[in-house]
Amino acid sequence: EDLAGQANFDRIISEDSRIEPRDWMPAAYRKSLTRQVSQHAHSEIIGMQPEANWITRAPSLKRKAILMAKVQDEAGHGLYLYSAAETLGTRRDELNNQLLEGRAKYSSIFNYPARTWADMGAIGWLVDGAAIANQVPLCRASYGPYGRAMVRICKEESFHQRQGWEILYELSNGTPEQKKMAQDAVNRMYAPALQMFGPPDSDSPHSQQSMKWNVKRFSNDELRQRFVDMIVVQAEALGLTLPDPDLKWNEERGHYDYGQLDWEEFSSVIAGNGPCNTQRMQRRRTAHEEGAWVREAAAAYAAKTAAAAAA
Ligand code: ACO
Repeated sequence: EDLAGQANFDRIISEDSRIEPRDWMPAAYRKSLTRQVSQHAHSEIIGMQPEANWITRAPSLKRKAILMAKVQDEAGHGLYLYSAAETLGTRRDELNNQLLEGRAKYSSIFNYPARTWADMGAIGWLVDGAAIANQVPLCRASYGPYGRAMVRICKEESFHQRQGWEILYELSNGTPEQKKMAQDAVNRMYAPALQMFGPPDSDSPHSQQSMKWNVKRFSNDELRQRFVDMIVVQAEALGLTLPDPDLKWNEERGHYDYGQLDWEEFSSVIAGNGPCNTQRMQRRRTAHEEGAWVREAAAAYAAKTAAAAAA
């Protein structure tokens, strides 16, 4: 126990200021942040797959270039986040092993298939939209390296959301078949996107403590509500509908009411039984094995340069 360290930590949190890697922090804070930041990094890396599947099938050279840039951005987000997580004291290869061995979670959403080109639109609009709603408040997270990484990530995510919106807008204003394809993608992605915000507050073990530590600024349900309120108007502008018969403006609350989500399906997806969990993990393991030579070459080069610098 470090009384002076604890007092300093408490003061920084109460002043809504920032904890930096060299500051003393409670073991539980370090552990919970390592968990959240590394899960977030894993999500970015696994999240490359559903869209990477469509790069070769994008309908034009321009669309291909945009999609490729977007998938690369996600790799970049994963890298900043692994770097932020490492400053908490766990090495990146250990974090990576946790993912490869199935000991770490990644976002439920990436276990759903991307069936048509319109899914690239729905993923951009809804999935990246939900990511922004969840992550903008994280720019103010009390842990410095995490908050700073989020600033750049959020800027890139807003570009991603706009490109998704634009794909859907074009399809929605295209032929009847294209419009149908756009609607079908939204129908499939809507509920899983709402579940990205995590379980209901009554069932969220980490929320309260994370909010006391100024890591989370809003609860899962608060952010989900904010997102629903935002996308109802956007769906109207797109000329598409959201697949929820209970969606309705509530004058008294000043928010849209929405229907119950299927939390059993959510648990089952997180437990590894979603439609694409096996495929996503197999692909990640193969990619990791295939990249072994790059890691070996980089390590050999680093050792050689270090030896030359020491000589
Ligand atoms: N998918 C998978 N697991 C989830 C999800 C989800 N959508 N939501 C919650 N969980 C997990 C939590 O990680 C936690 O698991 P653990 O105890 O094994 O670590 C458990 O369910 C309980 O949830 P909470 O107590 O609500 O957890 P927490 O307070 O960490 O809140 C949240 C979850 C909102 C996802 C939070 O961690 C967060 O904001 N993370 C950063 C954002 C992020 O990771 N986004 C990834 C998708 S966006 C993208 O990659 C483009």
